[in-house]
Amino acid sequence: MDINQIERELQTLGETAIAALEAAADLRELDEWRVEYLGKKSRLTGISREMGQLPPDERPVLGERVNALRGHLTTAFENRARQLQQEALARRLGAERIDITMPGRPHPLGAVHPITRVIEEIEDVFLGMGFQIAEGPEVETDEYNFERLNLPKDHPARDMQDTFYLTDTLLMRTHTSPMQVRTMERMRPHAPVKVIVPGRVYRRDEDDATHSHAFTQIEGLVVDRGIRMSDLKGVLEQFAKAVFGPDQAVRLRPSYFPFTEPSAEVDIRCVHCGGAGCRVCKQTGWIEILGAGMVHPFVLDLAGYDSRVFSGFAFGMGPERIAMLKYGIDDIRLLYQNDLRLLQQFTRVVG
Ligand code: PHE
Repeated sequence: MDINQIERELQTLGETAIAALEAAADLRELDEWRVEYLGKKSRLTGISREMGQLPPDERPVLGERVNALRGHLTTAFENRARQLQQEALARRLGAERIDITMPGRPHPLGAVHPITRVIEEIEDVFLGMGFQIAEGPEVETDEYNFERLNLPKDHPARDMQDTFYLTDTLLMRTHTSPMQVRTMERMRPHAPVKVIVPGRVYRRDEDDATHSHAFTQIEGLVVDRGIRMSDLKGVLEQFAKAVFGPDQAVRLRPSYFPFTEPSAEVDIRCVHCGGAGCRVCKQTGWIEILGAGMVHPFVLDLAGYDSRVFSGFAFGMGPERIAMLKYGIDDIRLLYQNDLRLLQQFTRVVG
């Protein structure tokens, strides 16, 4: 062992180690470097051991060299480690970067269909008057759609409604009136009965600007002791004012339905001219919006409400017609085509 030789080796070892340290590209390579140059089996540790073979006066000098190199390499290692950690962090932050200033993707707001909107508005009005809401089957029996509404098989009024039959006894309901009967059967002997029934109905009509083979109705039914036609008029007046404005008025004209007696057709003041007379109301100042009447005693008795004790009124209206009047839509088909240009005009304003 020659001290000069060892000093030279320390010199080269230092240079090689520093070069290798700079070449270490990541934390794993850095760890390998640490094992190789500073670990238990490293050359540097080996030299420390071999020092014991030197003459005692040379040991401190060399010991100092070895310690200095170990210190130098350790510091260089720590610096390189910090540098690599920072680089790794910077890379990760770069990759995970979120630009919070980027504008979001817009989620277009859906629109409530005008028919739905009118139904909901009408429901609110009647809920406010203490009515309940019920729904019934669109596939009905001949029994409920006709017979129990006082329309026997040979009754001429059956022609008023061209019917889609499914079988001899099953059909697509032509109106929501069968729910008068179903509701009374479910509620009896409870009184009062106060319901409205929105739903789809079907008729074998040619589709045109004012007719559709499938459309919507809202049925209304009130049954109690002592119900009179003036109650019907009062309720309809309230409804007309709520939906068409506080200046509205209703007019009842005599009419005929087999399941009401007496029956009436109900008009409101023309929404277009306010009653002065125009093309829309055919110069009458009035527009028909629904059919109504006092529930026929035969219908009451059949449904389990004794007509000597109970009386009631019923009405049926078409939300399409009401939507058309309210929003100035002149062709019922527009309500079924789902053209966004129409629907977007009914986007609910939020906030
Ligand atoms: N069901 C009748 C129709 O569809 C409307 C109506 C309902 C009339 C209730 C009177 C009472 O034309």
